[in-house]
Amino acid sequence: MTQPDSPAPAATAAPADDRPYSPGLEGVLAGETALGRVDGANGRLIYRGYRIGDLVERGSYAAVANLLWTGEWDPRHRLPTGPIPGRVIDVLRALPTSAKPMDALRTAVSAWGATQDLLWPPTVEQARALTSFSPSALAAFVRIREGKAPIEPDPSLGLVEGFLYQLTGQPADPGTSRALDAYFIVGAEHGFNASTFTARVITSTRSDIASAVAGAIGTMKGPLHGGAPSEVVDQLAQVGSVEHAEQWLREALDRGERLMGFGHRVYRAYDPRAAALRKVAEAMEHRPDWLELAIAVEDVALRILAEKHPDRALKTNVEYYAAPVLQGVGLSPDLFPATFSLARHAGWTAHVLEQAADNRLIRPDVRYIGPAERDLPVG
Ligand code: ACO
Repeated sequence: MTQPDSPAPAATAAPADDRPYSPGLEGVLAGETALGRVDGANGRLIYRGYRIGDLVERGSYAAVANLLWTGEWDPRHRLPTGPIPGRVIDVLRALPTSAKPMDALRTAVSAWGATQDLLWPPTVEQARALTSFSPSALAAFVRIREGKAPIEPDPSLGLVEGFLYQLTGQPADPGTSRALDAYFIVGAEHGFNASTFTARVITSTRSDIASAVAGAIGTMKGPLHGGAPSEVVDQLAQVGSVEHAEQWLREALDRGERLMGFGHRVYRAYDPRAAALRKVAEAMEHRPDWLELAIAVEDVALRILAEKHPDRALKTNVEYYAAPVLQGVGLSPDLFPATFSLARHAGWTAHVLEQAADNRLIRPDVRYIGPAERDLPVG
């Protein structure tokens, strides 16, 4: 045994670590799931085997969430928005009215967790309670920042209708609810994206479901993940007209900027969620007047991206057509990322359940590339 006062053993050079490493974990299999399959090469997405296009046309968010949590398809499944504990309302009132909605939602989920007895392992009931709490919390924050009182959930309404009602105090028309419900279905689940992976890492430590979802919201906040649809609106406003599109897009790319709503880590074909949402956007009664511009600019952008990146297929992603749907249902752009997070609650919490059911601590290794072991300078 080494004595406390004996000299440290001489440093030995570490053997070269030549195990494979993929920056950003691109292409690395980091788990198994029965929830969803993202087939990036062919532009296909299924939830527990069912095609996303069919789920959008014939399903509801409540049924899809239940499918993800339980594996059962029950088209009549209901999921109203849930109550907000009084202490969570106090926390929301304490936030600056200038707080970003994503910060407010992350804070609300964290505060909600502090008011619950979230025992391990997580349950479907916990998943349901959190998924139905969050729309109420986001709507309450919006009301509070506008100087208005939060609205109590109406248990007779579905989750999306309830969210819209609690935002505005008015019942939403069926077309608007249906469009947002379609968006929620499309946003519900998407494999091992960064926020879902975060939720699974947190769950793997046997932490609770609220911590997992709060962490996932923090990950979703970044513009490379969930922050893009509001930037799509800004980008289109700057483009201004189809005639100006070619020049504006080329100049943006020459400045090293990314075109928002294009490119994806997994999809090399057209994102099937973008295709589904484009249909929803085009069918909306209150679609934004810039939808036609978006459709025309998309063609120009795809052509220029193909020219600039012949070796990496950069296609339209879900965020591009999420923007007109979300604006069409009357949401302000600063609510887009938080609304995406509400939709993703079903997937995050389903992954939490799946991780917990066959848990192993997620703890990968890292290659050390710093200085070799050395002595601290004397003095
Ligand atoms: N506009 C212009 N160039 C792009 C874009 C884009 N939108 N996306 C990727 N590229 C370029 C990169 O600059 C890079 O070029 P280089 O090889 O010359 O350096 C090449 O394509 C490969 O890009 P990566 O960064 O390796 O792709 P990655 O898989 O890491 O990125 C991402 C995926 C983050 C979505 C990226 O495409 C992007 O930033 N898109 C814009 C933001 C966006 O729309 N985000 C929403 C994504 S969908 C979602 O999360 C729900």
